[in-house]
Amino acid sequence: MTLFRTLALGAGMVGLLLSTAHAEGLQGKIIGFSQIGSESGWRAAETSVTKAEAEARGIDLKFADAQQKQENQIKAIRGFIAQGVDAILVAPVVATGWEEVLTEAKEAEIPVVLLDRGIEGPEDLYLTSVASDQVKEGRVAGEWLAGTVGEAQCNIVELQGTVGSSPAINRKQGFEEAIAGKANLAIIRSQTGDFTRSKGKEVMEGFLKAEDGGKNICAVYAHNDDMAVGAIQAIKDAGLKPGSDILVVSIDAVPDIFAAMVAGEANATVELTPNMAGPAFDALQAYWDAGTEPAKFIITESKLYTPADDPQGEYERRKDLGY
Ligand code: AHR
Repeated sequence: MTLFRTLALGAGMVGLLLSTAHAEGLQGKIIGFSQIGSESGWRAAETSVTKAEAEARGIDLKFADAQQKQENQIKAIRGFIAQGVDAILVAPVVATGWEEVLTEAKEAEIPVVLLDRGIEGPEDLYLTSVASDQVKEGRVAGEWLAGTVGEAQCNIVELQGTVGSSPAINRKQGFEEAIAGKANLAIIRSQTGDFTRSKGKEVMEGFLKAEDGGKNICAVYAHNDDMAVGAIQAIKDAGLKPGSDILVVSIDAVPDIFAAMVAGEANATVELTPNMAGPAFDALQAYWDAGTEPAKFIITESKLYTPADDPQGEYERRKDLGY
């Protein structure tokens, strides 16, 4: 069931996802959700899908937007504990600094589920983590680029996600693994764009200026699509063609990157489903109903999309999902 739900959302069939099969099980449960913020289109979609999944199951979801700040997330979690919620979902903005507050949740016997990002520290502080294999995402992106350029010399610039976040750390590692040992591929510049479109554009402008107006750059690898979309604008402003003069590869599979593919301005993306909440709620229900301990890590798919994969259709399928 979990796999079906994940795949179905990946295909953009949100209506099929909001199954009422489990509605009774979680009916009336109070669940706190500490969301990072709204830095990207993907994040907005995750928020919409989580709210819709909660509503379909009769859950009273207490939503807290941390506006990108870990201190706000910690405050929200403490608030949920004080309210005596039944469970807490957290999308942790960075990977460190959670031990104290999650110990408080554990002592209050409130199960915690991590969504879409991982943390460092003892695994017994959370019931389960629903996320992609972020190292694999980076590897898939890197393998696509290595396969596409072949033996040609290719200078790569990298737009990293939020400093200290698990996807920034892991997507960098996976990409580097994929290009390791290939003498023709080199990351010549790498900087954070904080997962936002505006920062992605600004940082790419700096890369272009520093690299002979972009003539020395063969590809941009962005840790998410929003930064890639910002970079595409910067490349166009510099008088170059994104997608051909400079290849663009990123992660998320949001509608705007498919629109860019249709325009010939983006080359590849790795899908991250925004439906982390469906598997999380399934795990909580099984835990409460039958005492079933979920797997510690519930891993979602990481599928590669290129312009050969009907980008117009993918755009249409995703555009109403709250991105
Ligand atoms: O943690 C998932 C990442 O966070 C998404 O790839 C990015 O768009 C978001 O901001």
